[in-house]
Amino acid sequence: MDFFKYMNDKLYCENVSINDLVEQYGTPLYVYSKNAIINKFRKYDEAFKSVSHTICYALKANSNLHLLKLLANLGSGADIVSGGELFLAMKAGIKPEKIVYASVGKTDKEIWAAMDSGIKAFNIESWQELEVINEIAIGMHRRAPIAIRLNPDIDIHGHPYISTGKSINKFGINIEQAIDVFLKAARMKGVRIDGIHCHIGSQIVNLDYFAAAAEKMAAFVQELEKHGIQVNHIDIGGGLGASYENFLITEGQETSRTPEPEQLAERVLGILSPLDKEIFFEPGRSIIGEAGALISEVLFRKESNGKKYVIVDAGMNDLIRPSLYNAYHQIVPSEKKKSSNEVVDIVGPICETGDFLAKDRELPHLDRGDFIAVMTAGAYGYSLSSNYNSRPRAAEVWIDDDRHQLIRARERYEDFLS
Ligand code: LLP
Repeated sequence: MDFFKYMNDKLYCENVSINDLVEQYGTPLYVYSKNAIINKFRKYDEAFKSVSHTICYALKANSNLHLLKLLANLGSGADIVSGGELFLAMKAGIKPEKIVYASVGKTDKEIWAAMDSGIKAFNIESWQELEVINEIAIGMHRRAPIAIRLNPDIDIHGHPYISTGKSINKFGINIEQAIDVFLKAARMKGVRIDGIHCHIGSQIVNLDYFAAAAEKMAAFVQELEKHGIQVNHIDIGGGLGASYENFLITEGQETSRTPEPEQLAERVLGILSPLDKEIFFEPGRSIIGEAGALISEVLFRKESNGKKYVIVDAGMNDLIRPSLYNAYHQIVPSEKKKSSNEVVDIVGPICETGDFLAKDRELPHLDRGDFIAVMTAGAYGYSLSSNYNSRPRAAEVWIDDDRHQLIRARERYEDFLS
């Protein structure tokens, strides 16, 4: 089902036109399709139904409280990486026994809070972290549930900033050292081994990488068993990609869709289900990415040295992915245009040359007062936004059929004073 589509040449999210939304809420504006989110979550749940499983939505992709409450009601758990995310997950009503906590740098305060909340597992990323969690738990007369994050040394050939599973990355514990870490953990009084964890990176569209990680995890579990150590759960991390190019199909284009949850399940369950463990996974981008778009208004046009610029009111503070990762996001006008295409840079108002949403992009002629939609912006869009250049963060709305609801107000200048 297409949750964003053109009807009578106007762009709609579900059954609300983008032009109506900007009239009411202004720009820059994040717009989400509520049913796209529900649909994706259910696809995951359905795909893994043959095994005992928990979907731990990765809050870092988008931690809007309304979204978290929706996911909590659908039965989601949470993958958290900070005390702030723990706070939000608990506020949203996500069950603590479905919360897993990764991060190479957990503070003592964050560890106490997670212990108090009764989370499912700390995903341990270093020897020292294991020792500290053990001591803290002993001090609390408790045992901390842990999973050890393996670094399987798998190169996903993605952007270096979002590849996490190579031995040169800061994440997890080298698979060769991990047996020793488990043996040590098994003798500790303050920890209880619950599982193993692995996350090799983000925006992965080739399922072979997931299969390779699953193979390494399966072999590792068998090795652990030889040492008399049993785990209850295997957490395969997140990472399934979203469609960024030609997400919205317009005439004459071919879409390139990323793999669906059922294809992922098919590949990894073939390897992991014989082990008969509970499967955890941590999707972020693939749950919310395609469900969201960033809407922006064209302010000016400008030509310089033969290059055409379209200057819009959303900048790198609203969506940093193009600037930070050179990421491609499809951009479409909120109303179809009859004009022929031209090649332009879509740039924001921020005082940095790196402030762009698209470079050398072929688009219909856009003029002052037109609106554009930057597609597949639901994940790592708002959550990576900032107040750079003292710009208030955008508003967020979501759509349910023909109804729209503000789910986060636009920041005001007064908020800068708090
Ligand atoms: N689990 C762990 C331990 C993670 O580090 C991540 C993402 C996820 C799950 C969720 O991965 P996903 O399903 O969303 O791919 N800001 C970057 C992405 C950074 C991802 C960091 N870790 C971007 O905009 O592309």
